[in-house]
Amino acid sequence: MNDITTRQDVELLVNRFYDQVIKDDLIGFFFTDIAKIDLSKHLPKMYNFWESILLGNPVYEGNPMRVHFPLNEVTAMEEKHFNRWLQVWEKTVHDNFEGENAETAITRALNIARIMSYKMTNARSSE
Ligand code: HEM
Repeated sequence: MNDITTRQDVELLVNRFYDQVIKDDLIGFFFTDIAKIDLSKHLPKMYNFWESILLGNPVYEGNPMRVHFPLNEVTAMEEKHFNRWLQVWEKTVHDNFEGENAETAITRALNIARIMSYKMTNARSSE
């Protein structure tokens, strides 16, 4: 297995992750029922986000935290949801890649998920 080194690798990783996460019994509904995402618009943002992090090309423009607050208002985004997200992410990474960037993909996701989870809980308790 190879490491994640090209845009094509990033796209494959994100596509395989979304194949799984969208039909996930615990968190799939955030994507399909709450945000009702249009994959043709959403996926390129995710490719850019991960390309920025993993390949160091600053192609992502946006705020990855901001879009989650409205979801959290409809249905509380709780630790169990973040844990599942991370579980699917880690499995997708390990099923397809190995190497330094693959490990970075997992640790960065874990760090961001922790911060996001904290912010979502805070947003709820301050209402
Ligand atoms: C339970 C966990 C999560 C759920 C259910 C979730 C769900 C979603 C949904 C539905 C969107 C689309 C929002 C919209 O366009 O209206 C989105 C966007 C996004 N998510 Fe998550 N997410 C989760 C965790 C994470 C984590 C841990 C990360 C980062 C490692 C992340 C990164 C992003 C990014 C970069 C976007 C695109 C932001 C933009 O539009 O620029 N998400 N997420």
